[in-house]
Amino acid sequence: MGLGHKVADLSLHEAGRHQIRLAEHEMPGLMSLRAEYSASKPLAGARIAGSLHMTVQTAVLIETLVALGAAVRWASCNIFSTQDEAAAAVVVGAGTPENPEGVPVFAWKGESLEDYWWTAEQILSWPGAEQDPELGPNLILDDGGDATMLVHLGAQYEAAGAVPGPEAATSLEHAIVLDTLRASLAGDPARFTRIAAGILGASEETTTGVMRLNQMASAGTLLFPAINVNDSVTKSKFDNKYGIRHSLPDGIMRATDVLIGGKVVVICGYGDVGKGAAEAMAGQGARVIVTEIDPICALQAAMDGYQVARLETVLGAGDIFVTTTGGTGIITAAHLQSMKDKAIVGNVGHFDDEIDMAGLAAVPGVRKVEIKAQVHEWTFAAGTAAERSVIVLSEGRLLNLGNATGHPSFVMSCSFSNQVLAQIELFTKAGTGEYAKAVHVLPKILDEKVARLHLAALGVELTTLTETQAAYLGLAVSGPYKPEAYRY
Ligand code: NAI
Repeated sequence: MGLGHKVADLSLHEAGRHQIRLAEHEMPGLMSLRAEYSASKPLAGARIAGSLHMTVQTAVLIETLVALGAAVRWASCNIFSTQDEAAAAVVVGAGTPENPEGVPVFAWKGESLEDYWWTAEQILSWPGAEQDPELGPNLILDDGGDATMLVHLGAQYEAAGAVPGPEAATSLEHAIVLDTLRASLAGDPARFTRIAAGILGASEETTTGVMRLNQMASAGTLLFPAINVNDSVTKSKFDNKYGIRHSLPDGIMRATDVLIGGKVVVICGYGDVGKGAAEAMAGQGARVIVTEIDPICALQAAMDGYQVARLETVLGAGDIFVTTTGGTGIITAAHLQSMKDKAIVGNVGHFDDEIDMAGLAAVPGVRKVEIKAQVHEWTFAAGTAAERSVIVLSEGRLLNLGNATGHPSFVMSCSFSNQVLAQIELFTKAGTGEYAKAVHVLPKILDEKVARLHLAALGVELTTLTETQAAYLGLAVSGPYKPEAYRY
């Protein structure tokens, strides 16, 4: 049976509650969904295992799911992204630190990797579920796909009757996952098989998690339906772009206080996140250089006015380097040694393998000094890079959440409204055949609904089609307005 909660300090709950109250004001989508559905409670009976950055905005999401009838257990999807006061407020709920009445949260800022995978197990461990599988989680709300992956890997190894040995581990983190699953298999050889059988579906927040879901769907190994929230237009074209446009400079400034204007900033990747990142840096007066592997995105960057170059060409020119690709090995240890003295290097892609941190740590003679939490200076020994140093933010993990507080509430209201609608779809339509074991996106009419919910707060006057105009365009007056393939 899972423990009740584990957070940094429950006495922070009041500070968290004040911030949640202000965030609610900035999250009209979530608050409208609360108003619309809190009487009918479409999520009554839902038991949601949530793995998503435990921030103030996520607190509003969690409390919306609860208002709609769900029971929830929560962990963060990143070791540095938790806002401890938000976690405390969610646990305390309407109670006191001594008698909390809120939601079991397992998250604190600065978890170790062992802690992280322990918290991932906790959200899947529901009281009483060992005796009665009907009490286990029936929905996953994921960001990056770690909770979904844990269930899939666990069930896969249980079917095989063994977890691969430590020699199979491809990284320190992989070794920890394998250890976790080995211990679980030894204690209960069918635990993840039972959990997987109870899951009606998963909703996935981000590009990287969707990539992992698509890989499982293509391999025929996906165990339950999934909704790709990322590819709702009101998610990826807003959160990934406008969210990062706010939280990337916020993270760089809080970490380093360096003036961005006039500097050369190299943005690796010009997808949705890269576009927001480049715009933010240019908006501060930086000279932006983009790297891309996709000719379409490279051409877009060029037409948006940015120099497009290979990283190797511009290593000596950049003052700040930001990876946004969702890929691996983008900035290598050799790249880091060729940068200017005190170049600032950070990542906003989901996982930490965009910058080769293990390779950096292995450079002979390199020294690491903590300037402050989540800001480290790595100095190369004379002879390797002439006593130069680079400043690495959040140890190569999401710097906008590690060095700042992530995206602001308004844009997260768009993303999380999609999450709530996805959870309602998966729960209320389970067993109807509408969502097969595949990766789905929400219907466009719901995407448009999410946008609609955010218009009034910004004073937007929306034009209504006349019947004649609608007939001419072949549309219903109430939408949807665009074909699925439309790219916005
Ligand atoms: P995307 O697929 O739209 O963009 C990624 C771009 O990187 C693509 O255009 C791709 O061609 C390019 N790319 C891939 N390998 C490259 C390489 N070696 N060099 C240069 N460019 C390369 O994905 P999106 O939505 O922009 O997301 C990117 C990452 O950011 C994902 O990991 C996603 O999960 C994460 N993300 C992070 C957020 C945050 O708050 N920090 C918010 C939203 C997404």
